Amino acid sequence: MNKSVRKAIIAGNWKMNKTRPEAKELLEAIKPLVANAEGNVEVIACVPYTNLETAVNTVAGSNVKIGAENVHFEKSGAFTGEISADMLTEIGVEYVVIGHSERRQYFGETDETVNKRTKAALAGGLKPIVCVGELLWERETGITEEVIARQIKLDLYDVSAEDVKKVVIAYEPVWAIGTGKTATADQAEEVCAFIRATLAKLYDDATAQAVTIQYGGSMNAANAAELLSKENVDGGLIGGASLKAADFNTIVQAAING
Ligand code: PGA
Repeated sequence: MNKSVRKAIIAGNWKMNKTRPEAKELLEAIKPLVANAEGNVEVIACVPYTNLETAVNTVAGSNVKIGAENVHFEKSGAFTGEISADMLTEIGVEYVVIGHSERRQYFGETDETVNKRTKAALAGGLKPIVCVGELLWERETGITEEVIARQIKLDLYDVSAEDVKKVVIAYEPVWAIGTGKTATADQAEEVCAFIRATLAKLYDDATAQAVTIQYGGSMNAANAAELLSKENVDGGLIGGASLKAADFNTIVQAAING
């Protein structure tokens, strides 16, 4: 990470876990542990929709920010089951995960819908955490960079240079998510640096340098420090390990020291 030019961000992605009382308990445990991150590392918990209001109230007055796990691209209307950016910001939500591989894999998310959601989130005042990453067979056939470049170009299509600085990109190799198989620190650095080079081509070098690029995929208390020591790995999007306050805090402390 290079904190002199961009923000370091550790975000928990709780996925479909925790009821409201459980969410409150976990956030109450996390808050005091990560208080020393203030001004150094941004700490976020991305939680299920039903927990958002509880979560925002629980972290009020602390340095922990709250994110949602998806957002619809229309402002309102006949979209049964969907949630708009305005509904999220009204609660006090600041971030939103977009295009997570689980949504791409199980819920028909495409680069086109990721792009629409990203633009709607930005227009509505949310900071998107846009997820990209290759499948195992794509890595094995040597097309990781092609896949990532395509996702970055399509997902950020028509997003201005000013707006892209508000976007966080999470590089999450799909084969590393929830599998216990972490990309090595060198593999993570290689792709995060490639993402930055792609941004420099699409925008310019100063803009690319300002964008926070996280690694995600089985990042945990044991491997975080090494991953975060890499120049282009500016944080983490943490699934399983974000559900345990102590483990999540160890990752936050690694980012503070990184
Ligand atoms: P994991 O999930 O840390 O459990 O691998 C990461 C993610 O899906 O964001």
